[in-house]
Amino acid sequence: MAAGASLHDACLATLPTLRGTFGLAAISPLEPEKLVIARRGSPIMVAEVAGGWIVASDRAPFAGHAESCLSLHDHELALLEPGSMKVNSPTGGSLARGLVAVGIDLADTTPGSFPNFMAKEIHEQPLAIRRCLAGRLVADQIHSAGMRTIDEAIGTPERIVITGCGSAWHAGLIGAQMIESLAGIPTEVHVASELRHREIPVSPGTLCVAVSQSGETADTLEAMRELARQGATTFGVVNVVASALAQDTDAGMYLHAGPEVGVASTKAFTAQIAALALMAASLSPAGAKRTEFLRSLANLPDAMARAVETETAVRRVAERLAGEENWLFLGRGINWPVALEGALKLKEISYRHAEGLPAAEVKHGPLALVRPGLPVVLVAPSDHTAEKMLGTIAEVKARGAHTVVITDGVEPRLTRGADDVILLPAVHRLLSPLVTTIPLQWLSYHTARILGHDVDRPRNLAKSVTVE
Ligand code: M6R
Repeated sequence: MAAGASLHDACLATLPTLRGTFGLAAISPLEPEKLVIARRGSPIMVAEVAGGWIVASDRAPFAGHAESCLSLHDHELALLEPGSMKVNSPTGGSLARGLVAVGIDLADTTPGSFPNFMAKEIHEQPLAIRRCLAGRLVADQIHSAGMRTIDEAIGTPERIVITGCGSAWHAGLIGAQMIESLAGIPTEVHVASELRHREIPVSPGTLCVAVSQSGETADTLEAMRELARQGATTFGVVNVVASALAQDTDAGMYLHAGPEVGVASTKAFTAQIAALALMAASLSPAGAKRTEFLRSLANLPDAMARAVETETAVRRVAERLAGEENWLFLGRGINWPVALEGALKLKEISYRHAEGLPAAEVKHGPLALVRPGLPVVLVAPSDHTAEKMLGTIAEVKARGAHTVVITDGVEPRLTRGADDVILLPAVHRLLSPLVTTIPLQWLSYHTARILGHDVDRPRNLAKSVTVE
């Protein structure tokens, strides 16, 4: 590069030589009126405000200052000067890029009357699901929801591969069961970081569904891109508007859950389940089974509001058990991933060791861990798995475990002899994770608070994981 190159040309020449992930803003004392921004792997966005620009890695700082913003794509570069912005491709060609709505109110940027964002976001879940369903589920019919785009892109997929990380992976495990039950389409779910180490056969009829709150999770993006390279059609289930995942997929559906600030995924997790429920129904044939499912889905926000009210009962359980270092979470069928999610939340927020397992697996090894007083949380709605869950409860009880049963009260035998019972409204079998998850969120929340931890910013963790 020639000495004396402009800031813009210097950045254009240097960026291809950089390694790793970054969101970058560069200034030069020689051109103090100019700012160059670029990204690779980490989000960077810009909004015009009176007298200049705000550059940020998230849209929240724009709230109250700007209505719209631009979210750069990987490898692009933008030159900002007073009153003008030029976006360049990696080779320097100029790009016309549209703005997206900031879509965040100032109220979204504070916990308001709640002690922290996690409590606020747990409470917001019924509203978040209403927003996710609004305009998409009307009078037992699904409208759009991105589904028309799936139709255009692939028709009816032969096979679906769902991928994501952490809670998004758990949502995918739930979504797969809904899709197989309602639509009969073979669906597999892979943790994104592992999917890339496999050689998954992909055919033109394969639909890859990538699930992510942030839309910036490096492992999820790379897994999705790998399947796209092999010929899969890609679909994003994502919360953050104009995120990398939203930009890179062939089609997609926004969660509309609103900004999630707490590191622990709460309302985004349940909104992911709701979005996948819409997808499952949309891919399924019309008929009584689908109608019953959609009616139940429309009523879910009310049931979730009642699940949020379990807070006091769950706090009492947390007060009894917060001192315990090790926990087991067990579930079956559609609630097996909920057991995984409950254990993940407890680890993440309360720093307690917890394992989530399919309930029957406990007798293949983990039963050796069960000793008098060990907290075992059993997610046990009164569905077709109830009879088998009764056996699991008896097994752990016989070894002296402290049992916490999360159930709906329809099958009274599930609650007999339990040390603690959390009662939830009964809902459609396939939708029960939308309610059974909520007391588990409260359990990790109150355990963490009792132990004095910061629930919004747990140690060692970031809200979006942009490294592989
Ligand atoms: O933004 P994403 O949904 O892609 O994030 C995936 C995981 O990092 C995330 O769900 C993580 O597991 C949560 N912090 C769990 O509460």
